Amino acid sequence: MIVIASRNEGKVREIAVLPAASGLELRPVSDFPGCPDIEENGTTCEENAVIKAVKYSLWLRREHGIAPAVISEDSGLMVFSLLGWPGVHSARIAETDVERNWMVLDRLSGQRDRSAQFLAYTALAVNGVLVESWRGSVTGVIAEEPRGNQGFGYDPIFIDQASGRSFAELDRSRKNELSHRNQAWTQAFEYLRQHSLGLR
Ligand code: IMP
Repeated sequence: MIVIASRNEGKVREIAVLPAASGLELRPVSDFPGCPDIEENGTTCEENAVIKAVKYSLWLRREHGIAPAVISEDSGLMVFSLLGWPGVHSARIAETDVERNWMVLDRLSGQRDRSAQFLAYTALAVNGVLVESWRGSVTGVIAEEPRGNQGFGYDPIFIDQASGRSFAELDRSRKNELSHRNQAWTQAFEYLRQHSLGLR
């Protein structure tokens, strides 16, 4: 069994259908009674991924007496000319996705360098100990205004330069092929497979 250390059901569903997940037994941490919220107080996405994996792993050992492989993820948008902002704060700079998108656009107004990156980190912990972490990234440019209505978060303002479309204009399978999240989870799942962990 592999425990996915996220209480976000949308994220868990997206991860479970990745090609690299096939043949692995995945369970969201929210399936376990009493599952707590873990404060994401790291200064980088990588730190937050590590914090969540280690703390949920410790909690499962303490409260449920088990020591499965626990994998977490933390992700964000980094705008180069804004020195990586919003980065680790991506989920929290405003109340809604629409407001967050406009906040980024406002800060970039008049800026010629609109290059940006989505970053995702996954981390694996077993028995309360960090085993490994992985990074996925995809580079693009920030649009002049939001476009498209698929996906979530900053997808409407993130342009894939190869197609000229925003991530919210790409169909889901194309976005998944390109995505930072897919890269970070695929590396984690391949590691587990190599070590015969969590196979059905
Ligand atoms: P997390 O759930 O703490 O990892 O939050 C990540 C934040 O970054 C969310 O608020 C999303 O808006 C944003 N983000 C991460 N990945 C993506 C993506 O693939 N598309 C759009 N926004 C994303």
